Amino acid sequence: MIKKGIILAGGIGSRMSPLTKAVNKHLLPIYDKPVFFYPLSVLMLSGIKDILIIVNKNQQNQFKKILPNGKNLGIKIAYAEQKKPRGLPDAFLIAEKFIGKENVALILGDNFFYAQSLTKKLKECVKLSKGATVILHPVGNPSSYGVASINKKNKITKIIEKPKKFFSNLAVTGLYFFDNKAIAFSKKLKPSRRNEIEIVDLLNKYKKNNKLTAQFLGRGGAWLDTGSIKDFYDTSAFVSALENRQGLKIACLEEIALNNKWITRKNVEAAIKFYGKCNYSEYLSTLTKKSSK
Ligand code: G1P
Repeated sequence: MIKKGIILAGGIGSRMSPLTKAVNKHLLPIYDKPVFFYPLSVLMLSGIKDILIIVNKNQQNQFKKILPNGKNLGIKIAYAEQKKPRGLPDAFLIAEKFIGKENVALILGDNFFYAQSLTKKLKECVKLSKGATVILHPVGNPSSYGVASINKKNKITKIIEKPKKFFSNLAVTGLYFFDNKAIAFSKKLKPSRRNEIEIVDLLNKYKKNNKLTAQFLGRGGAWLDTGSIKDFYDTSAFVSALENRQGLKIACLEEIALNNKWITRKNVEAAIKFYGKCNYSEYLSTLTKKSSK
């Protein structure tokens, strides 16, 4: 069972400059919440309560202003710094002590997931005891992502980072579940042409040992990465449309914690005080009423 999770929220967000010159991309808004609330909500929905957020050098305090330690969500949040972007598997080297001897989930700080029965699927993924699991989802522009092909039994047959030649429309999303070997394997990875160690190279090590499995969001699901300005606003529009139509919020951390019974109404009231008078707080106050029934 995976009990620990990492959010990789470093990087310079160069594709979003000048917005990201002074502010970390993961603190910018996707509609009504900072970007990093969304991947954090995914880990919380998985049942993971022990979380390390990796941020850029000297940026911890900006994150801590919103989320000091997770206590108000009934979870444990710690921060670590990445001196410079060295590639995704670098997360396992930075987090070596945090992971210890356990298995771990990794989610990219700018990835957005929304799907029918998402929690059920995530709960399956965290059952992992050996090997690695990736979430695959179709995209129209596979050459921008890690891409995998599968056979009839949903077994991954090939996996390549940003393939120039089309071989599959299944992108490898930024949510991964690994056994503890990820640390040792990551130490052996050699930098790629873009001078980074690549997640796909790590995944290929698992594939070679027949230990890589695939999970799917399903056709109705949405996976969006908020790397470029366009993706960013598309994701915001998606969240706005769903939230305003349904009157339900996506990635409301307090709501997830309350549903998981990690916190009580008192914590939600404290959160309302902390956020102040705003739309998010108004939503939180409806939750306190619901749970008092
Ligand atoms: C990274 C990974 C890629 C994955 C993508 C998901 O790409 O290298 O395999 O599909 O995240 O967001 P990057 O954002 O570094 O270009």
